[in-house]
Amino acid sequence: MQEHNITKILVAEDEIRTIVQRLGAEITVYYQGIDKQLMVIGLLRGSFIFMADLVRQIEVPLVVDFMTLSSYGDGTVSSGDIKVVMDLDSSIEGRDVLLVEDIVDTGRTFSKVIRMLRNRNPRSLKTCTFLNKPETRQVDIQIDFCGVDIPNEFAVGYGLDYAQMYRNLPYVGVLNPD
Ligand code: PRP
Repeated sequence: MQEHNITKILVAEDEIRTIVQRLGAEITVYYQGIDKQLMVIGLLRGSFIFMADLVRQIEVPLVVDFMTLSSYGDGTVSSGDIKVVMDLDSSIEGRDVLLVEDIVDTGRTFSKVIRMLRNRNPRSLKTCTFLNKPETRQVDIQIDFCGVDIPNEFAVGYGLDYAQMYRNLPYVGVLNPD
């Protein structure tokens, strides 16, 4: 059982629901009256579960697209080496874009993607993350819609992995380092 390797729960299922509802409401208010559909861009693979929950709480017309980046390899420490594995399918020029992450840790991934997407001339670009680890931040980035701050522990579940596993846990937990 995967649960046997979890030492504690950081964000329980009911807390996740509350956080996602709040974020959806904040985003809905912010983009109220938007003239073209909001483009919600998820960074794979980590954000897939949060994205699915979040877009169902946003009550403005929207479209979704995804981008795959990789920064960690299979280890638990960020390598700083970020690759674009799969780019967006659609143009973001002139569009209102909301970039969605499962977690911001060092901030390198978000910073790189933000730079990349700004060069494509969106009308606006805002950021949303479910988890935020302020203690390990190395690059200063702006988070417009933030779910919850967590301490510097290795979090898995609700989309977050260790060696591609644990993404399917319905809560966010800390993995036993052994
Ligand atoms: C994780 C996470 C973020 C990034 C955050 O991705 O999903 O994209 O690391 O770390 P940073 O702020 O230090 O850059 P990962 O490369 O593990 O891929 P995944 O989305 O497939 O889990």
